[in-house]
Amino acid sequence: MVSRRVRVGDVELAYDAAGSGAAVVLLHGFPMDRRLWEAQLAGLGEWWCIAPDLRGLGGSELGRRPVTMMQYADDVAALLDALGIGRTVVCGLSLGGYVAFELLRRHPDRIRALILSDTRAEADSADARRARDELVEAVGREGSGVLFDRMGPRLLSPGTWRAAPQAVKRLERMVREAPPAGVTAALLAARDRADSRDLLAGINVPTLVLVGADDAITPPEAVLELAERIRGARVVRIAGAGHMPPLERPEETTAAIGEFLRTLR
Ligand code: MLT
Repeated sequence: MVSRRVRVGDVELAYDAAGSGAAVVLLHGFPMDRRLWEAQLAGLGEWWCIAPDLRGLGGSELGRRPVTMMQYADDVAALLDALGIGRTVVCGLSLGGYVAFELLRRHPDRIRALILSDTRAEADSADARRARDELVEAVGREGSGVLFDRMGPRLLSPGTWRAAPQAVKRLERMVREAPPAGVTAALLAARDRADSRDLLAGINVPTLVLVGADDAITPPEAVLELAERIRGARVVRIAGAGHMPPLERPEETTAAIGEFLRTLR
């Protein structure tokens, strides 16, 4: 695996890349960074896997504000340009899924296939928007660690908490190290994102929908409902995982992604 930086527009983005062949771009969730996909980069060697940090998160610069979901998507398109990639498989988890929807809207010709993991197409409800504002204030007062204290219990499955201390530690490190300004920008971008349900029926690329069987944030029933609206979507439930299958059940998640990618050959 190599870690690199590339300038796109007003920011420098950090990304990891591994493997060779056709491209797969992996977009992390909130409040995480590209380290979410470490196991997948290590395990999908027949594909050129590229995992960027969204602007303001991990090692990527924040740039101008406000940040929007559209900006994140444009950054990904610009990253593809910089790497000489035309079309790619786009894999997004949760927040990364919101970015994938925006890529579908703004750059559909760049998407060869989709992997949507533990995400939702609907916009935030009024309550969810209020909760985002409250989190922004909490991060301002207490820093990013407050997100681990508040969200941590729901991000991982009970089994992960009990039996996978390394996964818990990796998540905690990512969340506590997340730059507060980038976290705040991401919360506001998520709060103000568009509803993407109208896109689902028009998706005409092969699609895999993944969900942790114990996901408490985007529960399997909701994710399966999303999958039903995408023609021909395959669905894989990852047993023993909560909202973070790539981290909680790395081998099973890599296998599910690998199997789907093989169908594209
Ligand atoms: C994520 O994992 O990216 C978050 O749950 C997304 C969100 O806060 O809506």
